[in-house]
Amino acid sequence: MKKIAQYISFALLLCSSLSGSFAQSKKHKKLFQQAFVEAATQYKVLMKNIPPDKFPKTYFPKSQKYQWSASDWWCSGFYPGSLLYIYEQTHDKAILGEADRMLQLLEKEKLNTSTHDLGFMMYCSFGNAKDIAPKPAYKDILVQSAKSLASRFSPTVGCIKSWDSKKDDFLVIIDNMMNLELLCWATKATGDSSYYKIAVTHANTTMKNHFRSDFSSYHVINYNPYTGFVQQKRTAQGFADESAWARGQAWGLYGYTVMYRETKNPLYLQQAQQIAQFILKHPHLPADKIPYWDYNAPDIPNALRDASAASVMAAALLELCHYDKTMRKAYIKEAETILLNLSKPPYKAEIGSNGGFILQHSVGHIPQKTEIDVPLTYADYYYLEALKRYISLKK
Ligand code: GLY
Repeated sequence: MKKIAQYISFALLLCSSLSGSFAQSKKHKKLFQQAFVEAATQYKVLMKNIPPDKFPKTYFPKSQKYQWSASDWWCSGFYPGSLLYIYEQTHDKAILGEADRMLQLLEKEKLNTSTHDLGFMMYCSFGNAKDIAPKPAYKDILVQSAKSLASRFSPTVGCIKSWDSKKDDFLVIIDNMMNLELLCWATKATGDSSYYKIAVTHANTTMKNHFRSDFSSYHVINYNPYTGFVQQKRTAQGFADESAWARGQAWGLYGYTVMYRETKNPLYLQQAQQIAQFILKHPHLPADKIPYWDYNAPDIPNALRDASAASVMAAALLELCHYDKTMRKAYIKEAETILLNLSKPPYKAEIGSNGGFILQHSVGHIPQKTEIDVPLTYADYYYLEALKRYISLKK
């Protein structure tokens, strides 16, 4: 009898703690849904200020000045992508109208073969548009973009070239993992397996050469274009060649999570899990889970934080949680912490401020002294994507 009573009280405790965490996540979902309504208001500020043929890059609150770009800047897909995410949640037609206008300006980049960033540019924009507000033309635009991206692949190296450089260099950066989703989609859309094969080969070569034994990654690998041998491992945007640049770690996490989704190759899942482990267990990851711009920045704890790296991490963890039953709750919890912290000051900007960007305090390129502690389009984009992923989590 005593045993039954104990069992019943344990079951009741379990139910109440489960329903407690369910109520908690329902509360967060409501908060995150509201964040989309606020994002629509913010992006209307951005919309009002944008010159007719430009794309937003960043904003400097002190001087109240914007920086704009042309459509060939690597970030040109994020603003239309964010607008589409906002439209999906709010059904605000003005937001969709602006997304359509930007997509028209962006379309010509499908023929751009001078950058590896076509995945970012075209898949975050047209890739979302084909699902959220589809038009028949989008398929051809995306297939052409995949063709342009694939033209940068070298079978000798086994990678897509990231940056054009000297004749004897073949530079590949960890960020390039983010461009593979476009290629995987192109194979599904056309039946032509060459795109998928390029994506898989690139992911395998990167897994072999970009990672250290602790699963942190180098930013840049310089391959010999004639032999495929590694001739240099270094950084461009991080603190040092041997440091772990925060956004680079996040790109790797996101990239291998997507490659697992697309291939079901368990090695990619393991890679994503190990990268997650490196990030989440890092002694320099602050309690609020918004990373310093580099895990080895010399001035921690006074180093700048990078909200963009946090957004990418949250979005990645909210996909990885579907593929790892053991870690599911832990990944969701970590992403939730990030999102709750990004959704309030100092990261979330007051409505009407920040030039209309949603988040503050991202870091673009410290060694180059550009975009330091500013709003960035990709911080907003991956924040919105992570919010969407959190909202659609099943019980
Ligand atoms: N190179 C792209 C980035 O800043 O993450």
